[in-house]
Amino acid sequence: STLARFIRGLPKAELHIHIEGSLEPELMFRLATKNGVTLPYRSVEEVRQAYNFDSLQSFLDLYYMAAGVLLHRADFAALTEAYFDRLVADGGVYAEIFFDPQTHTDRGIALGEALGGVLDGMARAEARHGIKSKVILCCLRHLGEAEGLRMLAEAEPFLDRVVGLGLDSSERDFPPADFKRLYDAARAKGLRLVAHAGEEGPAAFVRDALDVLKVERIDHGIRAIDDPALVARLARAGTTLTVCPLSNVRLCTVNSLSDHPLRRLHEAGVKVTINSDDPAYFGGYLHENYLQTAQALNLTEPELAEIAGNSFRGAFLTDDEKAGYL
Ligand code: HPA
Ligand code: ZN
Repeated sequence: STLARFIRGLPKAELHIHIEGSLEPELMFRLATKNGVTLPYRSVEEVRQAYNFDSLQSFLDLYYMAAGVLLHRADFAALTEAYFDRLVADGGVYAEIFFDPQTHTDRGIALGEALGGVLDGMARAEARHGIKSKVILCCLRHLGEAEGLRMLAEAEPFLDRVVGLGLDSSERDFPPADFKRLYDAARAKGLRLVAHAGEEGPAAFVRDALDVLKVERIDHGIRAIDDPALVARLARAGTTLTVCPLSNVRLCTVNSLSDHPLRRLHEAGVKVTINSDDPAYFGGYLHENYLQTAQALNLTEPELAEIAGNSFRGAFLTDDEKAGYL
């Protein structure tokens, strides 16, 4: 369609993608066989049938289990390279990818192997496609702040190759304010700061991520819609929200794409972006998120161009780098 062609041709940055969430069932099986890891599924079809989530936690349980097939540096590189092939095909020209160190170090994988493989994949994607990217390390909030501080300390030798710190995993029982010391420590090391907030948790978590953690961007942030004063503040401050529409539908945090808060946030002047979150699990990569959202919310071409522009304006790039993309 005309709309699909317009979107594919629109230069876009992806700012909310968990690289472990780009593990396609085919690669999952291939790595399981190669590495001698037993999966609780007999086939790729059976895995896909399990992608029937009713909450964030129901997804996370499967997502952490599946990550168990990633053992070697080359596995992480293959995962990462495959994601960038998809992104480039979708008209993506830049990405800031999330990586969860604790998912792997807690299984006895050295951080240098896991993160090294992700960085290898990023370098290969740049060599093959010319696409640049940066990596953000995310703290698994369900493990608590002390474990997050341990992760940050362990990452110290690699921080010259890391742009920022994020916070993901189960939101509702693990409020942002519990991670103040972690964020203070990361800021002191010069990391840029983001956090998942207002995905399943309330608008107050978005406020606390801004006020207590002092993050620059909010990942998801859709529950801000419940608090008009907060929406006005996000608009006034120019805070970027990395919204993931297909994820929100699949995890039942919105009822349908057609009443997704993205349009209302955009109309209120909030800098929203469109992203895929965990594309192998939620039914689509960047293009599919743009296309289905545009169709459901009747986003016009100028609106889509503005949203794609937001993805560069909100990126952790210098003004000169942004100017090169915009
Ligand atoms: N929310 C929180 N944590 C996550 C997600 C998500 O959507 N995807 C991967 N980790
Ligand atoms: Zn996410």
